[in-house]
Amino acid sequence: MSEFSLNNEHLREYERRLIIDIRKGLNRQSHNNSIVKCFITYIQDLPTGQETGTFLAVDLGGTNFRVLMVELDGKEKLKMTTMQFAVPQEKMLGSGHDLFDFLAQCISIFAEKHNLKSTNIVYSMGFTFSFPLVQKSLNKALIDRWTKGFNCTDVIGKDVVKLLQEALRAIGIKNIKIKVVLNDTAGTLISGAWKNSACRIGLIVGTGTNVCYMEKQSNAQLFDLENKGSGNVLINTEWGAFGDDGTLDFIRNKYDFELDDHTINPGLQLHEKMISGMYMGELVRIIIEKAVKNNALFGGKGSTALFTRNRFFTEYVSKIEAQKKFKHETCMYIFAELGIPHVTPDDCINVRYICESVSTRAAHMLAAGICGIIRQMGEKNLAIGIDGSVYIHHPNVHKLITEKIQELVMPGVEFKLILSEDGSGRGAALAAAVAAKYERKTLI
Ligand code: GLC
Repeated sequence: MSEFSLNNEHLREYERRLIIDIRKGLNRQSHNNSIVKCFITYIQDLPTGQETGTFLAVDLGGTNFRVLMVELDGKEKLKMTTMQFAVPQEKMLGSGHDLFDFLAQCISIFAEKHNLKSTNIVYSMGFTFSFPLVQKSLNKALIDRWTKGFNCTDVIGKDVVKLLQEALRAIGIKNIKIKVVLNDTAGTLISGAWKNSACRIGLIVGTGTNVCYMEKQSNAQLFDLENKGSGNVLINTEWGAFGDDGTLDFIRNKYDFELDDHTINPGLQLHEKMISGMYMGELVRIIIEKAVKNNALFGGKGSTALFTRNRFFTEYVSKIEAQKKFKHETCMYIFAELGIPHVTPDDCINVRYICESVSTRAAHMLAAGICGIIRQMGEKNLAIGIDGSVYIHHPNVHKLITEKIQELVMPGVEFKLILSEDGSGRGAALAAAVAAKYERKTLI
């Protein structure tokens, strides 16, 4: 497993390369050819906790689509009603228009259930769309490309707000207006800031990984608004693509290469593929398969399930590492389910070591990445809002990230990692609330 162990020299080099790529993304001349896109978002103001009213939000970013209604009382309290729908795989890989029609149908079911249709009230909605977007204004954004197992035809370059708004209109829903479209990292930051005003970075470690942060407008060279607002603007880095030009090859190993070769987007999202939940379990599975074939695990006997791609879930990694040391029931149970009943305690110790090596590498890269963002921002005191299934369910990731940031960060920086639970849903509603407040102000 030595290939998975990154020392501080590796991590500092990784951080240095990340900062170079972030600056390329921000720079007007180099943006088009940059790998870490650093898309500007037009989100300049964060919520204060005093927002009031009822707002809707929708969240598409993985295998589920969620619809939410959030009631804000202006005193940092909120009431949330949600409904979740599984996105069928044929919608993830089919026509984009079909996907948006499906999303509109889900919203319609929600609106029906909560009697939102038969009123004169016009609801403001925030739309979390967690894929790379070229943002043109707060509520206009063009799909740049798909990630995380989605690959819909016929919508690249189209405005996601228009697509969803039109799909809603086509089924007779006219009283829902999409006011803002945002990435899940932005939702996470916004929802973190609502509770903790020092929150300046939003990080997702879930199916995919990505980070956004508050940048000075003067550094965000593509920001073209006359109105300079707060002087800052939120940047969606899309750091999942970091390394797509070979920048990370100095730390990628043969398992990373094998994993990538069998994805639907080979050569793309290489950083994400070393870290996030869509890939972590598969990385572990590839290593286990090799160990079995070399007679180093399970007495050299595997199973069809174990040798099937993507059949070892990231959830297993969390569960195996969550077990007390020298307890092996969970591990044995998981492998029995995968058709391997003959697992010994030594096998379990080795499997756990494999899982720890993969998840620790991910956590250390995330820590070094956050240090890079903090260095770019030049902030001395800040909170980082985090959400995502790996961050929530993995027993050690939070601790590993925190400890490594402490080791690597510039002297004098005070930081705190805060769980921004359900950032992508709540954050979208809060963003709609901030947009509504802004609209009211401009009307006055
Ligand atoms: C992928 C998407 C990005 C999203 C991240 C986390 O990297 O491209 O937009 O923020 O996953 O969900």
